[in-house]
Amino acid sequence: MSVDIETTCIHGNGQPEKDHPYRSIITPIFQVATFAHPGIGRSTGYDYSRVGNPTRNDLEQVVNDLEHGRGCLATTNGMAAIWLTLELFDSGSHIIASEDLYGGSVRLFDAVKESHDISVSYINTSFPDEVRKAVRENTKALYIETPSNPMMEVTDLAEMRKIADEHGLLLIVDNTFLSPYFQNPIDFGADIVVHSGTKYLEGHNDTLAGFVISRTEELHERLAFLYKTMGPCLAPFDSFLVLRGIKTLAIRLERQQENAVRIAKWLRSNPNVTEVYYVGLEDHPGYEVNKKQSRGFGGMISFRTKDKETAERILAKVKIITFAESLGGVESLITYPMIQTHGYIDSEVREKLGITDTLLRLSVGIENVNDLIGDLEQAFSE
Ligand SMILES: Cc1ncc(COP(=O)(O)O)c(C=O)c1O
Repeated sequence: MSVDIETTCIHGNGQPEKDHPYRSIITPIFQVATFAHPGIGRSTGYDYSRVGNPTRNDLEQVVNDLEHGRGCLATTNGMAAIWLTLELFDSGSHIIASEDLYGGSVRLFDAVKESHDISVSYINTSFPDEVRKAVRENTKALYIETPSNPMMEVTDLAEMRKIADEHGLLLIVDNTFLSPYFQNPIDFGADIVVHSGTKYLEGHNDTLAGFVISRTEELHERLAFLYKTMGPCLAPFDSFLVLRGIKTLAIRLERQQENAVRIAKWLRSNPNVTEVYYVGLEDHPGYEVNKKQSRGFGGMISFRTKDKETAERILAKVKIITFAESLGGVESLITYPMIQTHGYIDSEVREKLGITDTLLRLSVGIENVNDLIGDLEQAFSE
């Protein structure tokens, strides 16, 4: 039976929890490392939790269903998910990545450059011709964030698919910012979708998680082999928490987006704000492309204050909103990308991208929007 996304958030597409003992309404926490064999060469389907665990497998099924994939692996956090995909590439490979990218991903790419001899070119992937020009003989993949972190640049996924087809590349998309509730990159040709499950999927700022979802079974098998060999598997208890978090993904994101639209408009009318970067604003340069490939705009806003002092004052004065690094949870968080999420990035590159001392990033939560605006109002005031 085909179901809508709100139902998939709660049961997956096949109600995986129905197979559990006593017909438990929710998936129990199988806090177990190993499973008895019924006989030689026989298995219950579970042998050892690094390879498969019932709690984690139910979570993987739900995320796979949400992302329209053919296989999903739940990892300890988002970085482990991205690192696992990089293990697909031989040394000497070249990857083209969006130039505006989570700073931790850039740090990881730098690390594999040293350890695996994999080089990365950072390109403004909003311009497909720039991407085409950057393809080399040894290019193996495109690595995209859309909208990107923190500048909210939008990349046309169908255009990236064309380039990937022209040159036989894998298309990898980090879908953390919009989550599968708003965007399914596999439907637009992505081969692999990665997530920081720590963010919208889990949604409560209390658990780290990551996901790798594949478009084909063949790719999933290759990744599953690396996964069981290297072992970045999500623990049963954390899997349970993420499963629980996903049950409310739809209603959380609807509320977060509704709040974000109101706050983005309020920020825009504020004389102390010089720029608002939110893909839900109709004059955002990526508005049309984002609309074509997603069902919404999400709850992430970046904005630029008139000077550094204003940015610092806001961070010091917010009361309901918390000055902290992360995003996607029910609590609103405000981040200073220059020193937090993107502190690792070379200062010249940061400057070029616009990640300066006047840029703040807001992850809008589900609090009452008037309270959030009231908090910002008092934080802006001198
Ligand atoms: C877009 C994006 N991808 C990946 C990550 C890494 O995820 P994690 O912190 O779960 O390792 C983050 C973390 O902030 C992120 O914002």
